[in-house]
Amino acid sequence: MILVFTLMLEVFLFLRGTGAQSVTQPDSLITVPEGDAVELRCKYSSSVAPYLFWYVQYPNQGLQLLLKYTSGNSFVSGIRGFGAEFRKNETSFHLRKTSVHLSDSAKYFCAL
Ligand SMILES: *[C@@H]1O[C@H](CO)[C@@H](O)[C@H](O)[C@H]1NC(C)=O
Repeated sequence: MILVFTLMLEVFLFLRGTGAQSVTQPDSLITVPEGDAVELRCKYSSSVAPYLFWYVQYPNQGLQLLLKYTSGNSFVSGIRGFGAEFRKNETSFHLRKTSVHLSDSAKYFCAL
């Protein structure tokens, strides 16, 4: 009985280990003239099919979901004119907007 328990624990740890996931946002600060396009880069690392999210945090506010990718169409449209394309070949999920406004000044978080 003790042996069975130990094996189950090891399987659990193994699954947790192989399921290690992370995202990287290489740019800490991006400055864009009003009206220009912007791209906020995000690279992910995941051993399983990823669910990816972009959140925005406007000054003195909480996190707000912009868009998410779970499966299906690799291009995702979000609120406020934002979009992101899931690129498995580049393991990336960059956030884009074609014309930015001053009110877009905020912190943007890629999540997995
Ligand atoms: C990855 O795929 C996208 C869309 O299919 C394509 O535009 C892009 O050039 C590809 N990147 C590489 C590095 O192959």
